Amino acid sequence: VDRVLPAGRYLEWARAHGGRAPFDLSISGMPSPAADDAALGRPATDDDLDAWPKLIAALAHYLARPEAEIVPALGTAHAVWLACAAALRPGDEALVEAPVYQPLAFACAQVGARVVSFERPAPSFAVDIDRVLAALGPRTRLVTVSNLHNPTGVRVPDETLADLASALETRGVVLHVDEVYAPFDEVAGDRGIALDASGRFARSACRLGHRVIATGSLTKVYGLGPARIGYVAAPTDLAARAHDLLEATVGSLPTRWATFALHGLSRLGGAGGLAERSRRLLGTKRARVATWMAAQENLAWTSPPAGLFGFARPGEPVAAIDAWMARALDREGVLVTPGRFFGAPQGFRLAWSIDDAKLDQALERLGRAR
Ligand SMILES: Cc1ncc(COP(=O)(O)O)c(C=O)c1O
Repeated sequence: VDRVLPAGRYLEWARAHGGRAPFDLSISGMPSPAADDAALGRPATDDDLDAWPKLIAALAHYLARPEAEIVPALGTAHAVWLACAAALRPGDEALVEAPVYQPLAFACAQVGARVVSFERPAPSFAVDIDRVLAALGPRTRLVTVSNLHNPTGVRVPDETLADLASALETRGVVLHVDEVYAPFDEVAGDRGIALDASGRFARSACRLGHRVIATGSLTKVYGLGPARIGYVAAPTDLAARAHDLLEATVGSLPTRWATFALHGLSRLGGAGGLAERSRRLLGTKRARVATWMAAQENLAWTSPPAGLFGFARPGEPVAAIDAWMARALDREGVLVTPGRFFGAPQGFRLAWSIDDAKLDQALERLGRAR
């Protein structure tokens, strides 16, 4: 991993800095609802002794997949580890995208795999199937992409994922799609979050091939970060192995957590639910960021059509970009995420989870610090 990502630990940086700057443009999840927010409401009970099977059923409904493909997990981070540990053996090779959300590579390394990367090149940051296939080696067992792509916000079209999954399947390779941001989507009538009428995200990548593992959670899109409600959705043999890994590591997950997870899932769709809250909070922020970016000189922007962040590439040397980010924080109180944590030091990730009322001032201050 150090060879793929020499930049230091992203999560250490995020824990040290995130949420502390007055104008924080680094946070990649929707803000959490307060305990008394009507969108979240309260569970009818704290401890439902049947919560575990009910949670598997509720996640299966949410993802429109069979229960045998579902493994609940503590956030996407845990789901990613379960996916890697289920699909990889020590000595295997894992091929991860670059730029990459560092823990995706880290999890592969932690289960004993050798990590190599394939480029998602600027300016499109698209996944090019030929490029992926050219980077496979005889020991490659897993290919990992994020969707939306962290840090650029770029979506991999379903057709590309399906074609890639099918090409990999014939080579005995599993495709891992980290879809924690995927429900952020601009589909007809959805205004930024893709849920159907019954509150389902029926578009999980696991439906796109026989050997696709999807990982996700309710942490980013619905503001349930601290509740750690995540899932693995995988072919049944890999899901069974992930269940075994869960049992071998923790026995079972806490009943109280599973009870709250059930409640969270029941609050996603419909009038007054968490998806509606997120849509309201997203408002026009993405478009305002795009307008601001377009007005900057010598700066390329990924301009994602949905989601909570994109990637900016000032046409300047890395040292000048670092100096800009340092001035932004020290003089203007504005925090963005350095691209070096994703292996892309020539830019920075800018997220708009900040309060609507503070966004324009944050952008103005960031511009002033340049
Ligand atoms: C691509 C990606 N996967 C997983 C995670 C972790 O998500 P969770 O908070 O659900 O563990 C993040 C968090 O930033 C992420 O960006």
